[in-house]
Parts: sequence; structure tokens; C-alpha cells
Amino acid sequence: MRSDANIAGPMTDPVPGPRTESPGEDVSRETPPPMDDTPIGRAAQLAVEALGRAGEGLPRPEQTRVMVVANQKGGVGKTTTTVNLAASLALHGGRVLVIDLDPQGNASTALGIDHHAEVPSIYDVLVDSKPLSDVVQPVPDVEGLFCAPATIDLAGAEIELVSLVARESRLERAIQAYEQPLDYILIDCPPSLGLLTVNALVAGAEVLIPIQCEYYALEGLGQLLRNVDLVRGHLNPKLHVSTILLTMYDGRTRLASQVADEVRSHFGGEVLRTSIPRSVRISEAPSYGQTVLTYDPGSSGALSYLEAAREIALRGVGVHYEAQHVHALPELSQHDQHSMQEGIQ
Ligand SMILES: Nc1ncnc2c1ncn2[C@@H]1O[C@H](COP(=O)(O)OP(=O)(O)OP(=O)(O)O)[C@@H](O)[C@H]1O
Ligand SMILES: [Mg+2]
Repeated sequence: MRSDANIAGPMTDPVPGPRTESPGEDVSRETPPPMDDTPIGRAAQLAVEALGRAGEGLPRPEQTRVMVVANQKGGVGKTTTTVNLAASLALHGGRVLVIDLDPQGNASTALGIDHHAEVPSIYDVLVDSKPLSDVVQPVPDVEGLFCAPATIDLAGAEIELVSLVARESRLERAIQAYEQPLDYILIDCPPSLGLLTVNALVAGAEVLIPIQCEYYALEGLGQLLRNVDLVRGHLNPKLHVSTILLTMYDGRTRLASQVADEVRSHFGGEVLRTSIPRSVRISEAPSYGQTVLTYDPGSSGALSYLEAAREIALRGVGVHYEAQHVHALPELSQHDQHSMQEGIQ
């Protein structure tokens, strides 16, 4: 069992969101470490958190929504967003597949999926036309969540694909042939605009662009948007930028709110009202092979991703989104602030 503070969750907390700790408390952890870390204890906790955040389930899309998480800028939170949104959507009751399309294999690692060189992977799907069903693995600890892992082989795929037939649409074909029912497919792209990203853009209908609230946040975005236009014009008429998510929002800085304002004025309606705060718990989770939803379900990062997922799900069926308890731009917890001051980030 976790501590009461953690189990209380959003259902009983009138003003949940990022749990800033009570003043004077030792806040070395955002949520106290679990006293009993059994699978049942964790599952119970997750259920409380997810239901509290989600209300009684979310509408599921009529057709599988294929979302391409792309930004050729490195380190802006693509992988973190992919895995945590996917876990959130699964906790909200959806069936979700993460396709790891980055040779770094970070999404596979973060989901606790084995991806050493011999594991059947998305490389085999793209280059050797292996069925997607042969490589998809269930994600431990999160029901309804699946992953097609990337291995280091994928590093060669950009070049190997060049000489293959239908080189831009191999992922799309694989997805179309995949018969398992899914509500969402989230594709984690590498930080480049090469053939791997083009395969994702041809396979998807929606582009989700994570933007880090930092200097030069919009730099390079023009190139990505031009590529989206090109792919829409030539290969995939349904492709559009549906979602922009502000990540690593540091509520203490004027810069973060300036960047957020700039992004909102450029993109307007596509920008989710929910932003993701900079959080130590989010950055720690992958080293345990976990999403922040299982690693620290009560943390500000987990709650923000759950809320972002709710917003995405409601928008997808045309329902007006009302923030449950959000603060569109969550504040940092004391622990995060303290850690950042010490340079732990
Ligand atoms: N909200 C957050 N708070 C704190 N750290 C974060 C947050 N989001 C991401 N990070 C950290 O920032 C780093 C970059 O994030 P991530 O790997 O998701 O970016 P990326 O865009 O996928 O990178 P790449 O371009 O290399 O694929 C990681 O160390 C991650 O743990
Ligand atoms: Mg990544």
C-alpha cells in the first residue's frame, strides 16, 4: 500500500494536479515511495488515479487514430510524450500500440520492452516485410498497451529502405494488415526528417508535435510543417497537424510562459490546454523501464499526461474539452524546483 496522501488521488482531492507538498515537509520525493510495491497494490493505485482523472471512461474513437509524434529537434520530449500518453490512453480504457521508430529504442526501453539485437522488431517489418503482429509485445503492468520495439538494426534502415519498393509506405501497409483492434497507434519518430519519419507521416493521419518551452522552441518547425505539407500533397491526403503539446514547462520562468504564448498565438486551436511540467519523476521513470504513470501515478507529470490524454480523446470525438482540475500550465513541485536548483535535471 502507498501512503494515504498518495492513495487519496484526484477523486477525493478537490484541487489535485501537481501535488506540491505541504510547507515544511521534507519533499525529497514528489510522491512518497510505496510502502508495499506489489503488483496488486500498484494496480489499485493506478485504477484510483486513472479513474479519478478520467471520470467514468472516455469515448473511444470510431476508427483507430494513428498519431505521429514528430519534431526533428532532438530532446524535446517526443519519446516521453509517446510512452506516457500511450499509457494514459490505455489507463483511460483504450487499446493502444506504440511503434518505436527511433533506432535509439528509447520508447521500447521506457516501456520495459526487451529490444536487444535478436528481438523481432520494427526493422523486420519495414525492411523484411514481417507482419506487425510478429513483433508486437504487450507492455508489462499496463493493460491494453502494446509496443512494436526498435532495435539497433533500425539505424541501417534509412539507407536500406532507399532501394526497396514502396519505400515510403511500408509502415502504412504493415499497419493496414494488422488485424488486432486498436483505438490508438502512437509512432515515436527519430529526431530527423528521413525515410523513417516519412514512413510515419504516410502511415498516420494526425501529427502530434511536442514543443519544449525553451529558447528556439519554434526553430526548425517550418521544415517539419513543409514536410507534412509535402506528404499530404503527394502521399497521404488525410495527414494534418492535429495536436501540439507544450513540454517541460517550467512555471518559475518568464521564458516558459513567453514561449507558451508564442506557440499558442502561432498554432491556436491545435495546442492542448494541458501542458506538461518539467518533472524529475518523468525523467526518472525510463531508467526503471516504466512510464511515469506506473512509476509515480500521483506525480504532477503523471496527472498532466492523463489530462492531456483526456483532452486528446475528447477532441477526437468532437466533444468540447473542459479541464477537470487543470491549471493549463502546471506549477513545479517544490521537489522539482529544489532538484533543478541543484542541477539534478
Ligand atoms: N516533462 C519533463 N520533465 C523532465 N524531464 C523530461 C520531461 N520530458 C522529457 N524529459 C527528459 O528530457 C530528455 C529528452 O526527452 P525525450 O527523450 O522524450 O525527447 P525526444 O524528443 O524523444 O529526444 P530524441 O530527439 O533524442 O528522440 C530525456 O532525458 C527525458 O527524460
Ligand atoms: Mg526520442
